[in-house]
Amino acid sequence: MLNIALPKGRLGEKVYAMFERAGFACPAIREENRRLYFENEALDLRYFWVKPSDVAIYVERGAADIGVAGKDILLEYRPDVYELLDLGVGRCRMCVAAPEGFTDDMTRTLRVATKFSNIASAYYTSLGRDIDVIPLNGSIELAPILGLSDVIVDIVETGTTLRENHLAVMETIVPISARLIANKASFVFRKTRIDELVRAVSREVQT
Ligand code: PRP
Repeated sequence: MLNIALPKGRLGEKVYAMFERAGFACPAIREENRRLYFENEALDLRYFWVKPSDVAIYVERGAADIGVAGKDILLEYRPDVYELLDLGVGRCRMCVAAPEGFTDDMTRTLRVATKFSNIASAYYTSLGRDIDVIPLNGSIELAPILGLSDVIVDIVETGTTLRENHLAVMETIVPISARLIANKASFVFRKTRIDELVRAVSREVQT
């Protein structure tokens, strides 16, 4: 069976619809229930829902042959997988944001709150700017409001969260979207099937 890890949630549902249109359907997945894996024996396929940030782990370790992960996760954790295709969905950007009117005092270490410590460190290293990373797991926007940090590095999609918390984008670090990734061994041993899937799904990508 070809094992496919999908990110649980709205993005995963959008991606599954692309796979379905591409000829890799698994009707059971559309039934309302709390199951986490679904098989289509006729097509020799198994899908499973995992937490978005875990997809790359399943794929890297071979529990999934392929999967869909955000570029943010790939940049942050650098899993040892092949990135095969930009699916063009889940588009957003990794940004530096700060309270409106903020100016950086270059004589002081900049305090940066983020879920993406590696991306933030690499970005500021490239600028030669000293930072103190404050790792958080969510509600990052609160950090500068409460004085826990000066700025944040986080994902911005519509910009609503920033606006409603009186923060503004200072810099865009990198654009983000969902990527199709493959386990390196699967890519060799299941090359024909994976190639076929990549070709079919790539026709569903909206540019
Ligand atoms: C992300 C991000 C922002 C928000 C941005 O959070 O961390 O908080 O989305 O979206 P917007 O620009 O459309 O407002 P997510 O929903 O992934 O939740 P979390 O950070 O609490 O995990």
